Amino acid sequence: MGKSEKTTPEHVAIIMDGNGRWAQARGKPRLFGHHAGALRVREIVEACPDLGVKYLTIFAFSTENWKRTQTEVSGLMKLFKRYLMSETKQLVEAGVRVRFIGDRMKLDYTLVALMDELELLTSDNDLVHLTVALNYGGRDEVARATQRLCREVANGKLDPESVDAETLARRLDTYVLPDPDLVIRTSGEARISNFLLWQSAYSEYEFVDTLWPDFTRDEFARVLSGFNSRERRYGAVPG
Ligand code: FPP
Repeated sequence: MGKSEKTTPEHVAIIMDGNGRWAQARGKPRLFGHHAGALRVREIVEACPDLGVKYLTIFAFSTENWKRTQTEVSGLMKLFKRYLMSETKQLVEAGVRVRFIGDRMKLDYTLVALMDELELLTSDNDLVHLTVALNYGGRDEVARATQRLCREVANGKLDPESVDAETLARRLDTYVLPDPDLVIRTSGEARISNFLLWQSAYSEYEFVDTLWPDFTRDEFARVLSGFNSRERRYGAVPG
C-alpha cells in the first residue's frame, strides 16, 4: 500500500490537556479534574480496537510537571498508583499491552514497582498497545538515548561514523513502537510541549477545543475520521 493512501491511524498519541480548567469551571480543586481525566483514559483505551487504533500513547506526566504545586504533584502520583492498581485486571483481560516511557529514576519506587508489574502482566497481550508517558520529556529522552550511545562509543562497541538517525531511534524509550501517525491535543492549546519530539517528525496534528475530561469516544471517532480524509506525503509530491 502506498504511503499516500488513506488509512486509519495505526498509532495515535494524545496530549491530555485541560483537566485543571475543567475542574476550575466547576469550582473544584484541580485534582478533581485529573480524576475525571483518568475515567476518560479508560473509555478511550476501550474504544481503540473498534476504531482500528493499534497503538495509543498518552502523556500523563511531563518532566516539566514537577514544577506544579506539591499538592498537585503528590495527588497525581497517588492517582497514578491507584489507577494502576484498580485497572490492572481489566487491562490484562481486555488484551491491552501496557508500556511506560520516560525516566523512572525520579519516580517513587512503589509507583515504579506497579509500572513494572503491569508491563510484565500484560506482556503477552497484543490487541491494543497502550504506552503511558510518565516523567517523560522529548528532549530528556533524546539526551538519555545520546548518553547510551556515547557510552557504547566510549566502550568501543559503536563506531561514531556508523551513527545515523536509526541508530539514535533504536535507543529511544519508544524503540519498539512505530512513529505516531496522529497526535491529538485537547483543550485548545496548539503546542507540542516536549511530547514525542523525535517520533512525530511526520505526524499529523489535531488540536481540539474540548477539555480532556469531556473528550468522549464519539469525539475520538470524529477526529480519526478527519484523519482518514487527509493525505500524507512524507515529503514526497502528490501521487
Ligand atoms: C493536563 O491537564 C493533564 C495532566 C498534566 C495530567 C494528565 C493526567 C490524567 C489525565 C490523569 C490520569 C492519567 C492516567 C494515565 C491514569 P492540566 O492540568 O494541564 O489542565 P489545565 O491546562 O487546564 O491546567
